[in-house]
Amino acid sequence: MSTDTHAPFDKKPGSPRGTGELIRLEQVTKRFGNHTVLDHLDFSVDAGKHVTLIGPSGSGKTTILRLLMTLLKPDEGTITVDGEQLFPAPEKQVREVRKKIGMVFQQFNLFPNMTVLRNITEAPVTVLGMSRDAAEERARELLEMVGLTDHVDKHPAQLSGGQQQRVAIARALAMRPQVLLLDEVTSALDPELVAGVLDVLRDIARSTDITMLCVTHEMNFARDISDQVLMFDQGRIIEAGAPEKIFSEPEHDRTREFLSAVL
Ligand SMILES: Nc1ncnc2c1ncn2[C@@H]1O[C@H](COP(=O)(O)OP(=O)(O)OP(=O)(O)O)[C@@H](O)[C@H]1O
Ligand SMILES: [Mg+2]
Repeated sequence: MSTDTHAPFDKKPGSPRGTGELIRLEQVTKRFGNHTVLDHLDFSVDAGKHVTLIGPSGSGKTTILRLLMTLLKPDEGTITVDGEQLFPAPEKQVREVRKKIGMVFQQFNLFPNMTVLRNITEAPVTVLGMSRDAAEERARELLEMVGLTDHVDKHPAQLSGGQQQRVAIARALAMRPQVLLLDEVTSALDPELVAGVLDVLRDIARSTDITMLCVTHEMNFARDISDQVLMFDQGRIIEAGAPEKIFSEPEHDRTREFLSAVL
């Protein structure tokens, strides 16, 4: 963990965080009943990279994020994070590796009975064993970053959807994850609130070296922040490449068809 208590997270220059592969899925298969949702999937994400998953509804994007969050277990294959196996692995190892990963969901899932500040400090205190003072100091830095310094003592129900989602982003970052998983985090928002949340994410992508794995239908955002775009169809990656390539010269008919429907 960084010793610089003033930085909300590890900044790009001089960061101790490594390069090279951070996430690896090998031959990962996930079935629900006799429906194969992910079919011997292989892919890896290098540390610090921003990878966007696109593809039609039901193609398995959320399933991948849920596997990484250990909300689901694969039927076959291995998942490795930062050189340590997340699956298969003993429960204790799963708990440790799992701390490297944070997730923000479409439905913000904030704790409704806690203030904004408490929503952010709760896990660092109870899971990481941070002192409440240190957790609050960090929470205030994160709230400043997401533009919510005036709302620390409010409860989620007193905030707009966009504000709640920015709290959820701050809450995920408070755990200092190495990987941030984002699953359609603006899809439940009123249109006028989307830009504020995307701006916060652009800022995080630009100013930190956190690895991002992002499912989004916001193609301009994906184009801006992504190092790589993976196009999914029926549980397989059918095309992968830089955003300029995938969005401007897709090779696969299925990708072209999908993009013409969403762009
Ligand atoms: N818990 C579950 N039980 C049974 N089937 C499931 C479950 N979760 C997902 N599925 C099925 O797995 C497939 C992939 O779902 P997933 O949520 O990963 O798709 P997605 O690519 O995220 O789609 P969307 O763009 O609509 O969010 C779908 O056919 C879905 O119905
Ligand atoms: Mg989904």
